[in-house]
Amino acid sequence: MPKLIIDDIPVEVLDGMTVLEAAHSIDIPIPHFCWHPALGKAGACRVCAVKMLDGPVKGIQMSCMLPAQDGMVVSTTDPEAQEMRRHVIEWMMINHPHDCPVCDEGGECQLQDLTISGGHGVRRYAGKKRTHVNQDLGPYVTHEMNRCIQCYRCVRFYQEYAGGTDFGVMGSAGRVYFGRFQDGPLESPFSGNLVDICPTGVFTDKTARFRARYWDYDMAPSVCPGCSLGCNTTPVARYRELLKIVARRNDAVNGWFICDRGRFFNTEVNAPQRPRAPLVDGGETGWDEALEALLLCISEVTECYGPGSIAIVGSSRLALEGAVLLPLLARSHFAGALCYSLRTDEAVRTDFSATGRVASQQDVRQSDCIVIYGCDPLQEAPMMALAVRQAWRNGARVHLIGDKVNLPCEYIQVDSLSEVSFAAAKAPVLICSAYGNSDSLSDIIEQHDTLKLATLFSGPNSYAAALLSQEHGAVSLEQAVADGCIKGIISIEADIPAGLLEGIPFVAALDWRMTSVVSRAQIVLPTTSWIEMDGTYINAEGRAQRFKKVMNPGLPIRGLDPAGHPPHCHRSDAPGGMPLPAWEIIAKLIGGMGGEHIAEPLSGKWARLTRLDPESQGVKICDL
Ligand code: FES
Repeated sequence: MPKLIIDDIPVEVLDGMTVLEAAHSIDIPIPHFCWHPALGKAGACRVCAVKMLDGPVKGIQMSCMLPAQDGMVVSTTDPEAQEMRRHVIEWMMINHPHDCPVCDEGGECQLQDLTISGGHGVRRYAGKKRTHVNQDLGPYVTHEMNRCIQCYRCVRFYQEYAGGTDFGVMGSAGRVYFGRFQDGPLESPFSGNLVDICPTGVFTDKTARFRARYWDYDMAPSVCPGCSLGCNTTPVARYRELLKIVARRNDAVNGWFICDRGRFFNTEVNAPQRPRAPLVDGGETGWDEALEALLLCISEVTECYGPGSIAIVGSSRLALEGAVLLPLLARSHFAGALCYSLRTDEAVRTDFSATGRVASQQDVRQSDCIVIYGCDPLQEAPMMALAVRQAWRNGARVHLIGDKVNLPCEYIQVDSLSEVSFAAAKAPVLICSAYGNSDSLSDIIEQHDTLKLATLFSGPNSYAAALLSQEHGAVSLEQAVADGCIKGIISIEADIPAGLLEGIPFVAALDWRMTSVVSRAQIVLPTTSWIEMDGTYINAEGRAQRFKKVMNPGLPIRGLDPAGHPPHCHRSDAPGGMPLPAWEIIAKLIGGMGGEHIAEPLSGKWARLTRLDPESQGVKICDL
């Protein structure tokens, strides 16, 4: 544990830390471009210069390259170090366009920040700037090579971290070029991270550019609903439109990155065809009328077909706040079935969480032996595949049992678990799907104390749905409709296949997506999407994470005015702003049947989650 002094502050740091990391650990900022916590050092930009006043090394040094050592005395503010950093910025700006006011990265550009803070304002170089031809990298990422400062972050992420092979660096000396080897869209399913990782505006989000400046953004900490991993994100909205989603750091979950599926998720939220107002038999109506109509239909179905003919169907998309109210709704409406899942063969692996044997993405990244058991991480939960790659880069053995799949790393195909030597591993992890084969897994988990299980469920709140299903003795919808007694279904953000709706005379849908269930339903109650409400998801490892409201629901202003300007009329309600969080609608339905008034859905053992900081690492529900 080396002890050193940085700007007169003594600090003791972990072995292997660099001077730059040591300074950051005591909140002393050192400018940097090429260094990144997830990618490490490259020594390419030279902007992290500090002056070593005493100790084993002296003079101007690059702090990102220098291991912290005993006795070092470091100054980050020494005039010589400041001068060096100022020159480096000036060299970088020689070829950089001086276009901050019109650049789409302006306001969220690390180079702009350092140029201003370094005091560079006058261009002394009178020659021509070096320019490059840009590439069309596909529908999501824009390429603007003239802004490049050669920090190599993009290629280090794309090739080394994510295993992409179609993008790299070409050229040499003063004319290096970062791009695809041939024209065409970026192939990596993690390509959107280039936007976050580039410290200038070489790579920007094509779906959001020129739509708003950083200071215009509506933003809040959120959680990705794209799969069951619960990667942390920051959605960015303006004028009731989701503009883009960027990754948010959570070391226990996704680290620094997210996949493209989670990042480019705007269209469904912004879709004008989304259910925006309550509908009864296809006609728009107010909330009171729609709720009354639904209550009437429920009593008619019950009268006509007998008690127990209604099924309440939740889903893995439904946030915890709504999911915990479903048993109350089922009781208040004398429902014949409470369902949190559609398929009967869904094996619930939630019980492993109580043993602490559930693997997070962090556990997978740090594992030395991984078995992928009958699932396809890149398809089901892409960030899990990225975590597997990090373990493989650190020397882990990766085994695959089942059909061949695409993985961003090398793996050994084996026929059964008995061929894997778990005993020789320190931190083995088994990755499996939520469906089938529970018995053989239980045996293998009992036999190996250190083995952890990572289960790929189907939706952002599948774990909670499975847990509540166990707690309340719910059945799958498949089972519920099998005996033919169910004649009415209230679907709450559930994607029910048409086959299960056949022969059901009455369907009501609470949803924010335009699904086939919504098209089929006689009564539709619009719910808010996850960025239009506060809520909680429990991810595949049983980690509860809160997400915050980013914007109010309503039609994006861009769709209302061809010029994209806010309308010049004043009204107290937003057009299309009627959706309510699913839990509020469920609470109204419970109240409508004379049930209790519900102001806060998370009570009892869940109450603690209402105080959970959305910017924390979340909390494992086995610790509640
Ligand atoms: Fe140290 Fe780039 S951050 S050289």
